Amino acid sequence: MKAAVYYQNGGPEVLKYEEVPDPMCRPKGVVIRIEAVSIEGGDTLNRFGGPLATTPHIVGYQAAGEIIEVGSEVSHLKIGQKVVASDAYGSHAEKWGVPARACWVIPDGLDVRHAAVVPVPFGTADECLFEFGRLKAGETVLIQAGASGVGVAAIQLAKRAGARVLATASSEERLQALKPLGLDDGINYRTEDVVEAVMRLTDKKGVNLVVDSVGGSTLQGSIRSLGHRGRVSMVGRAGREPMTVNVQSLMAGNRSLTGVFLGAEIATERGYNNIQRLLNEVAKGELKVVIDKTFPLQDAAAAHAYIESRKAVGRVLLIP
Ligand SMILES: NC(=O)c1ccc[n+]([C@@H]2O[C@H](COP(=O)([O-])OP(=O)(O)OC[C@H]3O[C@@H](n4cnc5c(N)ncnc54)[C@H](OP(=O)(O)O)[C@@H]3O)[C@@H](O)[C@H]2O)c1
Repeated sequence: MKAAVYYQNGGPEVLKYEEVPDPMCRPKGVVIRIEAVSIEGGDTLNRFGGPLATTPHIVGYQAAGEIIEVGSEVSHLKIGQKVVASDAYGSHAEKWGVPARACWVIPDGLDVRHAAVVPVPFGTADECLFEFGRLKAGETVLIQAGASGVGVAAIQLAKRAGARVLATASSEERLQALKPLGLDDGINYRTEDVVEAVMRLTDKKGVNLVVDSVGGSTLQGSIRSLGHRGRVSMVGRAGREPMTVNVQSLMAGNRSLTGVFLGAEIATERGYNNIQRLLNEVAKGELKVVIDKTFPLQDAAAAHAYIESRKAVGRVLLIP
C-alpha cells in the first residue's frame, strides 16, 4: 500500500509518499481501507517531535473507511462495514490495522468524511466541558484556540448546554467563522490581552471554565481568567511552549486545574459509548463538523504545512 511516512522528525517536508507493507490483521483487530484521514492536532506535534514507533513511521491517529479484514476473535464487526477509528499511529495510509475496540460503526446516513473528524475532537471537548469541567447552564466558558478541531466541537457543545461561550483565535476572520457555531464573544489574542478581554466581557467576574488545548503562557492566562471556583480543563500543548505554569493563583479563588487525556477515557465503556453518542448526534445534524480543506494523501506534506500556516478552521482531511 501507499502511505505518507517519515524517517526523522521535522517540518512538513519530512513527509514522503512511499510504498510500504500492508498492515496485518491481528486476532482482536480489523483492517480498514481508508477513505478519509483526519489530521489531528497531535499529528503535527508528533511529526515535529514525537517518538518514531517504526522506521519509516506512519503518523496519525484518526481515519475512517471500510472494513476489509476481520480478526479471528472479533464477532461484532464485519467486512464491508464503514467505521471510524482512533489508534496511536498509522492513519496517514491507504490501509490501517487497528484494534476492533478502537472502531466506532458509522451511523446510517453519516458521510464517511464527516465521521472521520468526530471521535477525538468531539470526545475530548465533551470530556473537558462536562465530565471534568462540570459545566452547567448559565455558566461562562472560555475556549482557547476556538478555531481548532477541539475548539469547534467545544463551542457547539457548550452553547447547546446553555453556557455563554467566549473563544480565542489568532485572527478576526477565524473568530467570525466561529459565530455560526455558537460563539458569543471572540477574543483576537494578537490584538488584545486575553485576561483583560475576559475581565471586560464578564464585568471583572472571570469565567467559570476554560478549555485549554494550547498550554504554556496561554495556560497561565487561562488560570488568570478564572472567577471564584473556576476550573481549567488542560488538554494539550498546541502552542509548543514549555508547560511551566505558576499554580499559586489557583488557591486564592478556590480554582482548579484538571488534566484531561481522552485515551484513558476511551478505554472505559463510558468514554467509548460517549463517542458513539456524539457520532449519532452528528448524524442527526444536532452537531456540525467543520472541514476546511481536503488534500490527496500523496500531498500530506502540503496538508501539514497548510495547517501550520494557521489558516485552517476545524479539520483538514487527506484522501487516499
Ligand atoms: N489530551 C487529549 O486527550 C487530547 C485530545 C485531543 C487533542 N489534544 C491536544 O490538543 C491540542 C489541539 O488539538 P486540535 O486537534 O484541536 O488542534 P488543531 O485543530 O491542529 O488546532 C490547533 C490550534 O492551536 C492554535 N495555536 C496556538 N498556538 C499555536 C502554535 N504555536 N502552533 C500551532 N497552532 C497554535 C491554532 O489556532 P490559532 O491560530 O487561532 O491560535 C490552531 O488552530 C494538541 O496539542 C493536541 O495534541 C489532546
